Amino acid sequence: MDLKAYLKEQCGRIDAALDAYLPRENELPHNLHKAMRYSVFAGGKRVRPILMLAACQAVGGDTERAVPAACAMEMIHTYSLIHDDLPAMDDDDFRRGNPTNHKVFGEAIAILAGDALLTEAFRLISDPRSVKGCNPSALLILIHEIATCAGSHGMVGGQVVDMESEGKPDMDLPTVQYIHTHKTGALIKASVVAGALLGGADDNKLAAVTRYGEAAGLAFQIADDILDIEGTTEQIGKDAGSDEARGKATYPAVMGLAAAKHEAQAMMDEAFRALEIFGMEADPLREIATYIVNRKN
Ligand code: IPE
Ligand code: IPE
Ligand code: MG
Ligand code: MG
Ligand code: MG
Repeated sequence: MDLKAYLKEQCGRIDAALDAYLPRENELPHNLHKAMRYSVFAGGKRVRPILMLAACQAVGGDTERAVPAACAMEMIHTYSLIHDDLPAMDDDDFRRGNPTNHKVFGEAIAILAGDALLTEAFRLISDPRSVKGCNPSALLILIHEIATCAGSHGMVGGQVVDMESEGKPDMDLPTVQYIHTHKTGALIKASVVAGALLGGADDNKLAAVTRYGEAAGLAFQIADDILDIEGTTEQIGKDAGSDEARGKATYPAVMGLAAAKHEAQAMMDEAFRALEIFGMEADPLREIATYIVNRKN
């Protein structure tokens, strides 16, 4: 399959739906809605929503049903980035090739735009109009899954340990593994689990897709650590070298760059193995796993 064309097409679907779901800039409060749209439409890769659609397809589902939840996931992800960049957190100036949200709108609006995106995401996936045709019990399970993966046992928990580990000289692998599987892995896993649930997966397929999501999620953050070292600010659209400057707990920091690359590859292989029960319908998931590890931004 042509991955580039696939990603472009799915990106277009997600962007159009996000545009329809997000409040307009001319709705009050203008500045808040402007700030929300500013970060959502700054040019993200849409990996999580696309993974959700691909997982839905892998289990034989109608991907159209997964579009609202896919957009909700992108809103949650974008909120996590806005807050991640705040001066109290990573204190970064660039994101998605543009000045960070707080640089443009100020810290208070950036915090509130993040809050609003997180809340809007759950409003969207609990709105009977947007989830028409979805199995209500699958929907309830997926809302619970997304909330679990986004909260203190998931992404937020990982962010806390990431912050607390800054500047510690004796960082160990289990801690970094915890950080990565939580701050980043959790939302990626939730994306594919949600896609599989909306696609009507049986327990066997759901378990396979879950294992894929765990491996791909860890691979994604290891690749992000590597890009922070090897990429330029222009390439990655965010401040390169930021991890070393802040003494972040990363895979390259605990095991060296070469071993980190090896580990990312090993996680990609594990993601592939998890998909062995599927045929061609899981090709997009396979291609995306390769892309996650080999991407340049
Ligand atoms: C960046 O995520 C933050 C991490 C969790 C590593 P992405 O690399 O998916 O960022 P966008 O959405 O494409 O900007
Ligand atoms: C991303 O970790 C985690 C979340 C945003 C939840 P990073 O801090 O490494 O992400 P980037 O490198 O700033 O995108
Ligand atoms: Mg961070
Ligand atoms: Mg950061
Ligand atoms: Mg990073």
